[in-house]
Amino acid sequence: MMRILIGASLLLASPALAEVKPGPGQDTVEANCAACHTTDYIRMNAPFLTQDGWKAEVGKMRTAFGSPIDDAVAAEIVQYLATQYGPKK
Ligand code: HEC
Repeated sequence: MMRILIGASLLLASPALAEVKPGPGQDTVEANCAACHTTDYIRMNAPFLTQDGWKAEVGKMRTAFGSPIDDAVAAEIVQYLATQYGPKK
């Protein structure tokens, strides 16, 4: 329920819904991580996930949900997510 509410308010606030922060790997993430759900899932989980957390998350997308990315792409995505969406220090 909360996810739906947060998603709806972001939708109203931002026409560029599918965009994540600019940086190396941004295109890879947008191309591979927005097929099944919006990239809001990334933003919503950003406060909690360290590099290891993102690694596990990307691994789950691959093993549990069938995201068809190879190891090199996954590593690039984890690097991007840990840099742009890691916990604030
Ligand atoms: C093949 C479909 C698919 C792809 C591709 C995919 N995901 Fe997901 N993702 C899911 C599903 C299914 C859920 C669970 C949805 C729910 O709980 O409502 C999910 C949930 C999430 C969540 C929320 C936390 C959680 O574990 O439920 C995050 C963060 C996330 N995905 C990140 C990513 C990232 C980063 C990528 C790119 C590497 C990605 N997803 C690609 C299917 C996918």
